[in-house]
Amino acid sequence: MKIGFIGTGNIASAVVEGLCTAEPRPERIVLSPRNAEKAAALAAQFTEAEVATDNQGVVDACDWVMLAVRPPVAQEVLSALRFRPGQTIVSLIAAVSLDELKALVAPADTIIRAVPLPAVANHVGPTAIFPAHAEVEALFNRIGVAVAVDDEYRYNALCAVTATAAAQYALLGRMADWLAAKGVDGQDAARYLAAMGQALAADAAAKIDHGFDVLIDEVSTPGGMNEQILKTFREAGWFEPLEPALEAILDRHEGKA
Ligand SMILES: NC(=O)c1ccc[n+]([C@@H]2O[C@H](COP(=O)([O-])OP(=O)(O)OC[C@H]3O[C@@H](n4cnc5c(N)ncnc54)[C@H](OP(=O)(O)O)[C@@H]3O)[C@@H](O)[C@H]2O)c1
Repeated sequence: MKIGFIGTGNIASAVVEGLCTAEPRPERIVLSPRNAEKAAALAAQFTEAEVATDNQGVVDACDWVMLAVRPPVAQEVLSALRFRPGQTIVSLIAAVSLDELKALVAPADTIIRAVPLPAVANHVGPTAIFPAHAEVEALFNRIGVAVAVDDEYRYNALCAVTATAAAQYALLGRMADWLAAKGVDGQDAARYLAAMGQALAADAAAKIDHGFDVLIDEVSTPGGMNEQILKTFREAGWFEPLEPALEAILDRHEGKA
């Protein structure tokens, strides 16, 4: 399969790295020349990857085209390109709806939205997909976990929760600072907290059917220390800002803010 990328920035680089280090490897990756440095580095690193002379060269060479430019330039970049019937367009662009994309990439008729995270470079992390498409899901399952939905509002809701990544890192960062204040070596604290995060994620993945309340119960011995921390946070209203914050992000994905 020949996969083209319009926009060779951070997320395109992560997807290319993931695909070129997973099995089966893509037959060919064709990159748009911007960002020139990133495109050249990927072409030097992976034999499957090459840089086209321009964006139209990517579209002409590929049956699948991934769109990975930033939202403000999407309309200008895509409306300058000639797509063709039968092409599969996978848009990684946030906040540009399926209807808007249809108008921009016609007469290409298979259009899928997908939002991977940079960790797909290491074959981990979720990719939300809308609408469901078996081959696109299979592609992203090679480099993480694809979750497809058949409703754009739900897709945008999945996208919204990815915006909690910085806050989740901030929580780990505050624990690292606290450990450092207690004299724990910085590297040891970072390794410990990263491994703890991995353990929680692995447990959640292994027990998907249980639901998060069961996981909470499993680690919360009555009168125990996990229960004490959770109770402290709940009593302080620590989780209350989460839903309004997510609603505000969802509004941005829906183009309402
Ligand atoms: N980063 C993420 O975690 C993530 C995750 C999922 C989806 N996304 C979405 O993916 C898109 C790209 O995000 P990003 O973080 O990868 O941004 P980025 O690093 O800024 O990449 C965007 C790329 O588009 C290039 N570009 C600008 N104008 C262009 C043109 N006319 N033709 C071709 N390429 C052009 C830029 O090149 P120059 O550097 O030369 O300007 C840059 O390399 C966004 O729509 C974002 O919503 C991002």
